[in-house]
Amino acid sequence: MPEEIKKLNEKIRSCRKCPLGSMRLNAVPGEGFLSARVMFIGEAPGASEDEKGIPFCGRAGSVLDELLPLAGLKREEVFIGNILKCRPPKNRNPQSSEIKTCTPYLNYQINYIKPAVLCCLGNFATAYIMKKFGLAAKIQGITKIHGKIFITDFSYGKVRIMPLFHPAVVTYDINKKSILARDFRQLKNIPK
Ligand code: URA
Repeated sequence: MPEEIKKLNEKIRSCRKCPLGSMRLNAVPGEGFLSARVMFIGEAPGASEDEKGIPFCGRAGSVLDELLPLAGLKREEVFIGNILKCRPPKNRNPQSSEIKTCTPYLNYQINYIKPAVLCCLGNFATAYIMKKFGLAAKIQGITKIHGKIFITDFSYGKVRIMPLFHPAVVTYDINKKSILARDFRQLKNIPK
């Protein structure tokens, strides 16, 4: 692993910039291919991720693992990160102060990886990324904009952003699985 990213991960693992830092078992910096074309961004670690320090390794992760092949993707060729690197208590929603404090880590990862495609899992990732990439005016709830592709120019080139339902929805609404599957299949059509 490049020294820069090792240092970043160490910083994240010892971060105490917000109160979540003293509640976690493990911070979850994110993992995957550091030259990935496609980056997935979730919300925050859950219980399994907090235990292991690995993103999407619990129930939502199993759903994601089932969906990736539909997009023609393998887990090792994408990067998987989160808006928050530490688990909020009882998996509550991220607070805006936490998002503000934590997202410089994600921004560093995006600037390093320079993904051409950013898949935002759920409302929090969608709102944060669309704002960051100059698409604030296009933000709507995930039910309205899932599966749409937003194209924008960023400092390192053209970026495509696709909001998706968070894979965890499948654990309480099985009907969302076919919607997620349809959206993931669409990712295959994005030009390389
Ligand atoms: N949900 C998320 O948003 N991220 C994870 O890493 C796991 C579950």
